[in-house]
Amino acid sequence: MGIEQRPVDRRAALRLLGGVGVALVGGDVLAACSRADGPAGGPAGGPAGGPAGTAVGGTAPGTGGAGTDPPVLASAGGRLEVTLTAAPGTYNDTSPGPTLVVRPGDELVITLENRLDGDTNLHTHGLHVSPEGDGDNIFATVAPGGRRTYRYRLPTDHPSGTFWYHPHPHGAVAAQLASGLAGVIVVEDDLDRLPALAGATHRVLVLGDGAGGGGASMPQMTQGREAGPTTVNRQTAPRYTARAGALEHWRFVNASPSRIHALHLDGGVLHLIAADHGRLARPEPIDELVLSPGERAEVLVPVRGAGPLTLTERAYDRGRIAMGPMMGTADAGWAGTVLTVDVRGTVVEAPAVPDRLRPEPDDAGPVTRARELTLDLVMGMGAGGGMGRGGMGGGGAGMDAFRIDGKAFDPARTDITATVGDVEEWTIRNTTTIDHPFHLHVWPFQVLARTGSATPPRGWKDTVDVPANGEVRIRIPFRDIPGRTVYHCHILDHEDMGMMGVIEVRPR
Ligand code: C2O
Ligand code: CU
Ligand code: CU
Repeated sequence: MGIEQRPVDRRAALRLLGGVGVALVGGDVLAACSRADGPAGGPAGGPAGGPAGTAVGGTAPGTGGAGTDPPVLASAGGRLEVTLTAAPGTYNDTSPGPTLVVRPGDELVITLENRLDGDTNLHTHGLHVSPEGDGDNIFATVAPGGRRTYRYRLPTDHPSGTFWYHPHPHGAVAAQLASGLAGVIVVEDDLDRLPALAGATHRVLVLGDGAGGGGASMPQMTQGREAGPTTVNRQTAPRYTARAGALEHWRFVNASPSRIHALHLDGGVLHLIAADHGRLARPEPIDELVLSPGERAEVLVPVRGAGPLTLTERAYDRGRIAMGPMMGTADAGWAGTVLTVDVRGTVVEAPAVPDRLRPEPDDAGPVTRARELTLDLVMGMGAGGGMGRGGMGGGGAGMDAFRIDGKAFDPARTDITATVGDVEEWTIRNTTTIDHPFHLHVWPFQVLARTGSATPPRGWKDTVDVPANGEVRIRIPFRDIPGRTVYHCHILDHEDMGMMGVIEVRPR
């Protein structure tokens, strides 16, 4: 499929993401930025590729190439205007698509062009912006050959952090995301100018796997498609280079359609500094970073220089559905090397991690309304349906299907009505034998309790994994921004099967 390069707004001046991003102005440059899915050197100038020697899981051909960052398009003067051309597997010929860097208060204008052979649309996952009209409206779709302009106004108090964009056409979300259609949105603010962070090497690390974008079988959809080694920016086991004494700042996005990534760093320490929505008050050294689909995290990694850093993934058991001889054939999860950082220079003392990042996060406030939601599996005849356009390989009558409160997604039905100013507490119960990462659009929440977590996940969140046969309690302040949108399981095959509900938040 021919890709016509659209000019990108010339006003979009560039900012380098700490010197490792490829800064771009104009669509002409986009063409020059091929994805490094081979061992070719990337802009980070890493060492010659070699096999990832310590992989304990599968490796794929072309592993060990120099790690690269997606291209960057940054706002200037309070505005970023870009065209994203969705073609099979890419936005603007790259996967991940360009990283969009904006600031609180900015206007972000995205014209989406559909060069796919099916409907698509765009969702800005995590942004606290209006879901109405030409905002983050996932009910509207763009037909093949069509285009749509989205206008997102970020509130001036929008948290800084790592967000992302991906397609959201019900029934085809998993396939389009798995094909490579995803990109990162960075909201920068003055925290990024903290002296300690300003000198850091910033990297965008979009996690994925080998699950392809084609049709999936009913058992694959039931389990959630997942395959092959974990990828970083669509590369397998990339190698990066850092210098001894440097502070590395990594922005992770779990863009896998189903895989839960449990990450551990050999040779160094991960200091968690941000959850889905912005910075924590203080960094926290962690042994393992677990990210379910849709979740983000930022970490700082001080580089001592005593040897390479190896980010490994531990197998994560997210449960399985065994409904009969045809079902429940999932493997136990992938383990292996995710990325390696080679360190240049002699051993030095590790640079300090700042001990304070922002004021203590405010509390959501007293609860005005409590609700219970049930994530369930409806068995047998008539459970199917809820499939959107061109349902992928199943979901018809007679199939079992995941539901929320027993109901399949219906865009015409409003399942939850809330009011601006309310603070709601939701208990989300999972009655199935598989984890479901629960995601709410637009309004961030705090996690009060989660089965299996001694301490609930920190910070403001928009996605939280509800473990198999477990529950999660969240508190959501609907402080501002009325509108109608969705909440759903972020195993996107489940969402495509109908595991999604509609929420409308009315103005007070
Ligand atoms: Cu990242 Cu409604 O999704
Ligand atoms: Cu979302
Ligand atoms: Cu699910």
